[in-house]
Amino acid sequence: MNKTNAWKLALATAVAVGATQVARADTIKIGVVAPFSGPFAIYGTQFKNAMDVWEAQHGKSVAGHKVEFIFKDSGGPNPSAARTATQELLIKDRVNYLAGYVFTPNALAIAPLINQSHTPTVIWNAATSVINAKSKYFLRTSMTLPQVSAPLADWAYANGIKTVVTAVTDYGPGIDAQKAFAKEFEAKGGKILDDIRMPIKTTDFGPFIQRAKTDKPNAIFSFIPAGPPAFSFVKAYTDNGLKADGIKLIGTGDIDDETTLQGLGDASIGIITSQHYSQAHPSKMNQEFVAELKKLHPDAVANFASVGAYDGMHVLYRMIEAGGKDGAKGMKAVIGSSWESPRGPLTLDPKTRTVTQNMYIREITKGPDGKLENKEIETIKNVPDVGYPTK
Ligand code: PHB
Repeated sequence: MNKTNAWKLALATAVAVGATQVARADTIKIGVVAPFSGPFAIYGTQFKNAMDVWEAQHGKSVAGHKVEFIFKDSGGPNPSAARTATQELLIKDRVNYLAGYVFTPNALAIAPLINQSHTPTVIWNAATSVINAKSKYFLRTSMTLPQVSAPLADWAYANGIKTVVTAVTDYGPGIDAQKAFAKEFEAKGGKILDDIRMPIKTTDFGPFIQRAKTDKPNAIFSFIPAGPPAFSFVKAYTDNGLKADGIKLIGTGDIDDETTLQGLGDASIGIITSQHYSQAHPSKMNQEFVAELKKLHPDAVANFASVGAYDGMHVLYRMIEAGGKDGAKGMKAVIGSSWESPRGPLTLDPKTRTVTQNMYIREITKGPDGKLENKEIETIKNVPDVGYPTK
């Protein structure tokens, strides 16, 4: 038997055994694949902390079903680690649902597996539009880069920025961000002076910042995966005096994420980003969310990964409530549904299976407590995934 057939047989057996177990045990198993080690381990921590908030507010069971989570570490962008982890969850642990997935290549790598197992998979981060087109079992509670970047292009042009150098990490989400920003910005009449693609493993961003500086744009637009690389890029911008040269930094909220924001220092004041969530979002639901998070984890901050997981828990619980272990029934109940999130109103768009949501243009300022915050200065309402492939 070749490898593919062996995998298919193992999966079929697992599904059959799983079905006979329905009557006996009523524990719903959910596999969570995310970085829990290495430079991107913060995502795993953010996910777990947000899950704690959800469970404190909604319990660890739903409609009489006990909910059990099994965590697997994928490290950073590592498709083969994500595939192995997911295969183990499906075959050995016989999970009913999957969740997590931070990096686009990891999510893409597991699409063939869930297409065979028919497992509803709630993406809590990975944000390239095409992912959801690779499997109808993907649902996404994070965002896509086109969803975030196109509204920022409109804002930039309306606010006096006419020339831009784009500088993005050279893989799926960076390319999505660059294309969506450039398309919208050029349609308005703006000019892209240079399109810089930075390798995913880059740690020294100085040369790229120097190259952008030479082009003398009104602004640099950037996407870099949140975490150590994004932090280093913004530091390279602030340390190289571009602000004094009148070159503004704008980008997706990944570059000035709350988990690294305080470390950027006062030189980062005035940076403009677009995103679906800011810890400073002034709604009652968000204040309660942040208060509960800090009660459970005093040193934690809330960021986009936190709400990706928190709303992901909402989707999982609603699927279990409607369908128990019957994933098809569960998906039918959530696709097209709307709910209120700490970030604002959400609808799981039936066309893209990504949430339609408000986008916020944010500016780094000093908050009332003297700490840096992403203050929301403009809201663009109910933005769908504008990057979803049409063919
Ligand atoms: C992705 O790989 O899709 C990704 C990773 C980190 C981000 C955003 C998107 O901050």
